[in-house]
Amino acid sequence: MTHPQATVASPRLRVLVARAAFPDVLARLKDVADVDDTPDDRIETPEGLRLRMRDKHGAFITNSERIDTALLEACPALRVVSTMTVGVDHIDLAACASRGVIVTHTPDVLTETTADLGFGLLLAAARQMADAERYLRAGRWNRWRYDLFAGRDVHGSTLGIIGMGRIGQAIARRAALGFGMQVLYHNRSRLPDAIEQALGAQHRSLDALLTQSHHVLLALPYTPSARHLIGAAELARMQPGATLVNVARGGIVDEIALADALERGHLGAAGLDVFDGEPAVNARLLTAPRVVLTPHIASASIPTRRAMVQLAVDNLCAVLQGQPPLTPVAF
Ligand code: DGY
Repeated sequence: MTHPQATVASPRLRVLVARAAFPDVLARLKDVADVDDTPDDRIETPEGLRLRMRDKHGAFITNSERIDTALLEACPALRVVSTMTVGVDHIDLAACASRGVIVTHTPDVLTETTADLGFGLLLAAARQMADAERYLRAGRWNRWRYDLFAGRDVHGSTLGIIGMGRIGQAIARRAALGFGMQVLYHNRSRLPDAIEQALGAQHRSLDALLTQSHHVLLALPYTPSARHLIGAAELARMQPGATLVNVARGGIVDEIALADALERGHLGAAGLDVFDGEPAVNARLLTAPRVVLTPHIASASIPTRRAMVQLAVDNLCAVLQGQPPLTPVAF
């Protein structure tokens, strides 16, 4: 007598989607795993995140979820953390690597959109667009004046870019090709000659860049050594009337020193998309003059945000299906 072979269904994989994102793009995850999603977009406390992640094989996160040793220790089944950001400063990469947890992120798809906003902040700050708009809306505009909100020129000036990765280079292209600017840059490593020539970009030490630029833009990754890279001494080295733009991470700038430099009038303007401890914003920056503030929206166009979610989902699916991730974080 023959017995039919018993079939044992393999257990379903489990994925946490820690924040809300385009539901139609997230839907693909359901093909490969049971999904614990967050349609109300609440942000979990560290304890809440631990409870929801402890039995998961994969996680879709943003920069509001901190992945650290304590969390990883509570999640023995975890194979992959997929963040829909290019920055990975919210993830302890060494702790992930030592537990064999793959980390993926979303480079490239957000480069041009982020560069657009970075350049937009430069224009808005140098030309005092935000202060001018508030003045007009407050009903204070009663006549044309020769020096009303007279700021600094952007075209034809010198832009110093700190952090010349993909986003820094995309901003350099806008500056050099669109606005006839001279581009200086400071980076861990020099760019190949061909790229320097195509961008007309010249490498400088940090000190030389600060003293030679009319406008300084930050586009570097946030690592421990980048904390307060721009403090009181660096701001003092910048030219009187210079502009500072930050589309990287808030902690790179000493915000109190920045507010001081704006209030004293040494710095001409600042354009900030990122803040130390965001979404809280230092009260001194809220009241400082000639500063344009946006709520971490540099990559926020609909097509780009969809592409970021799609890439994060594709990375998660690939790893859970035993394939190599598309865009792993190199460690
Ligand atoms: C990024 O992708 O790193 C953006 O700053 C959003 O966090």
